[in-house]
Amino acid sequence: MLSRPRRNRKSQVIRDMVQENHLRASDLIFPLFIIDGQNKKTEVSSMPGIYRYSIDLLLKEVESCMNLGLKTFDLFPNIEESKKDKFATESLNKDGIYLKAIREVKKYFPESCVITDVAMDPYSSDGHDGLVENGEILNDETLDILAEMSLAHAEAGADIIAPSDMMDGRVGYIREALDSQGFTNTSIMSYTAKYASAFYGPFRDALESAPKFGDKKTYQMNPANQREALIEGAFDVEEGADFLMVKPALAYLDVIKLLKDNFDLPIAAYNVSGEYAMIKAAVQKGWLEESRTITEVLMGMKRAGADVILTYHAKEVLEKGWI
Ligand code: PBG
Repeated sequence: MLSRPRRNRKSQVIRDMVQENHLRASDLIFPLFIIDGQNKKTEVSSMPGIYRYSIDLLLKEVESCMNLGLKTFDLFPNIEESKKDKFATESLNKDGIYLKAIREVKKYFPESCVITDVAMDPYSSDGHDGLVENGEILNDETLDILAEMSLAHAEAGADIIAPSDMMDGRVGYIREALDSQGFTNTSIMSYTAKYASAFYGPFRDALESAPKFGDKKTYQMNPANQREALIEGAFDVEEGADFLMVKPALAYLDVIKLLKDNFDLPIAAYNVSGEYAMIKAAVQKGWLEESRTITEVLMGMKRAGADVILTYHAKEVLEKGWI
């Protein structure tokens, strides 16, 4: 035997030397949930350790993340049912919690990077990402609403706009709207390959945003499809996206790899709420070892080709020194 691969595994120093992939604070994006009120922090029951924060406490949470070197945040609002309507009007309310949160985070932490979510579902009385008419999700009519929302986010100071709605043509439409108002430097992270997944359940608990009827299969992708992600990717590149995202991550590592191999833009992977819940539940039962499981899962996403990972584990892995 001339070749013995075990020689490169014989000590920690050598294992570290030949390690191919690494996890760093700058690879991670922390999703944060916002709720109305003051001095309020409510745990998401299906996501132990993850909270909805009122803006005052959100700022404290951002500060403690910044001190850990975690500087990129993706904000999501929990909107009171009474403020929801068909047109997601509350999303444009300058005094509403979302636009206010963007302004405040950027005011107190100008060196942070704020990503904002563009889609109608948190504000929609239908609980869908687009405008609903007679049970149908309208594509082109939704684009105007998404563009207005994006402009409001950019005006409030968002660094990156992330459309998660899966309407056709929205990246180009939003890009043109931003550019026409002078926001040429506001980036777009497109949810390029977003699947109609069962793994979003806990997120919909967090926002209380589950669809009121039907499902999201006419706009989110079929979990059985891989090549279709190339069609979406090509459009997003052409329409001016700055990042391409795959969501969820764990059951879609092949799609992460596919986009990485076919496009030169940075690839983001969204390690979604259900993936987080799954690990936390098994850890609570004593069935999985927490730190090793979490770092292995995140490393798998990097190995597949993710440049950045949106993950609810972002803070704990840094706080606990797991990476
Ligand atoms: C909705 C949106 C969803 C998530 C991010 N933006 C849920 C959905 O499409 O129903 C899910 C994130 C997660 O599960 O962590 N626009």
